Amino acid sequence: MTDQYVAAIDQGTTSSRCIVFDAAGQIVSVAQREHRQIYPRPGWVEHDAEEIWAAVEQVVREALAKASIGADGLVAIGITNQRETTVVWDRATGRPVHHAIVWQDTRTGPLLRRLESEYGEQRFRERTGLPLATYFAGPKLRWLLENVDGLRDRAERGEVLFGTMDSWLIWKLTGRHLTDVTNASRTLLMNLHTLDWDPELLDALGVPAAMLPEIRSSAEVYGTAGRALDGALDEVPVASALGDQQAALFGQTCFQPGEAKCTYGTGSFLLLNTGESPVSSSHGLLTTVGYRIGDRPATYALEGAIAVTGSLVQWLRDNLGLISSAPEVEDLARTVEDNGGCYVVPAFSGLFAPHWRSDARGVIAGLTGYVTKGHLARAVLEATAWQTREVVDAMNADSEVALRRLRVDGGMVANGLLMQFLADVLDVPVVRPQISETTCLGAAYAAGLAVGFWPDLATLRAQWRQDAQWQPAMEPAHRDRELRNWRKAVDRTLGWVE
Ligand code: G3P
Repeated sequence: MTDQYVAAIDQGTTSSRCIVFDAAGQIVSVAQREHRQIYPRPGWVEHDAEEIWAAVEQVVREALAKASIGADGLVAIGITNQRETTVVWDRATGRPVHHAIVWQDTRTGPLLRRLESEYGEQRFRERTGLPLATYFAGPKLRWLLENVDGLRDRAERGEVLFGTMDSWLIWKLTGRHLTDVTNASRTLLMNLHTLDWDPELLDALGVPAAMLPEIRSSAEVYGTAGRALDGALDEVPVASALGDQQAALFGQTCFQPGEAKCTYGTGSFLLLNTGESPVSSSHGLLTTVGYRIGDRPATYALEGAIAVTGSLVQWLRDNLGLISSAPEVEDLARTVEDNGGCYVVPAFSGLFAPHWRSDARGVIAGLTGYVTKGHLARAVLEATAWQTREVVDAMNADSEVALRRLRVDGGMVANGLLMQFLADVLDVPVVRPQISETTCLGAAYAAGLAVGFWPDLATLRAQWRQDAQWQPAMEPAHRDRELRNWRKAVDRTLGWVE
């Protein structure tokens, strides 16, 4: 018998990737392609869904070619994606009616204030586990319905379809209009208890049900990739979809209540498995669906979502030109001993967890003539750790059990300076797995489970291996002083936007 593999597509905020995994969960090949970030106005962020699909087609072909396998070598393909990013397309032509509105986009601020005064935030929070924030998909969809000519009428007639990126890719691959429960849980339209669209919330947001995808589990065969990619995937089952952060939770094999991971990508997202019932937060965390395997009960999670971490390093590279590649930030930061009194709070899209302040905008605080670009690089990295500290504090308060160690993954975990600082400010060990591509791994695991390639969760769990661990080493008094300074800097971001 020839070797069999599972492929995963990770459609992320800045790039799309495809990774082929073998039965041991080891990476066989990787292909990646960036897409444009479109900024029509301050605070607006858009993507071209057609450009993204072209990138996905290309990375799938490339990953298969690098692995020297054809469609017959793949038992399944899984999908994971940037969450909340909203696209509407024409059912007949398959063409998007507008650029996709990205999760970081803040244009729905005024709409959310209207919704809050008409319905109250509590009504949404109780049903969806989410605050009324610009982050989520439902208000972005409402914006499109209000601002694209004739869209509402066409939506009511079922001529146009809504989806997050998972739906868009599933549609392109299989021709079916579906989403998975983890992605649906980020719309402000799905009821966390029924795991279905909530008619009252659809009404409040003015969203016609006819344009919504059917909500399915995260691991089941949705269809096969027949005509897509000119048949390059032939009859390969499309067998999983999870939001990227939930996929990373799955790829880190955090299957037990109490297990948590944090993924460091464009933003950073700490998810704690809370088991089979949703736990509501009183400290600014989100309640979300972690995953649902076939017809088994859903597993829920508490989430601390941080909007800007890796994208702050990109900003240092692209907007300030202080480094020419993202990994260089570590070298620049190592040219100095400390932050020189400087703090960067990257509230580019307002502040997410635990603050949820759409009116916040970024600050660089503590500047003196002493501060160099090295100090700035250090403060940029430290911002990631302090933002994690804020969500860990919220999680400890919500769950009443202190986190004992943190599993980390994502692009930034290659940065040893940051990992040590993270362990220092959290005061717990930070653990990195051998496969830090846990987002793709999680999607591959879910797809492989759905088609019986892997028998059960225990098998997946046994494949997790540690690569490195960082122990806290900072003096408590120093940590407390730095935390106080960070908090002062955060205060200065608030109330910037009227
Ligand atoms: O909720 C947004 C998140 O899914 C984006 O993840 O890795 O593309 O920054 P990433």
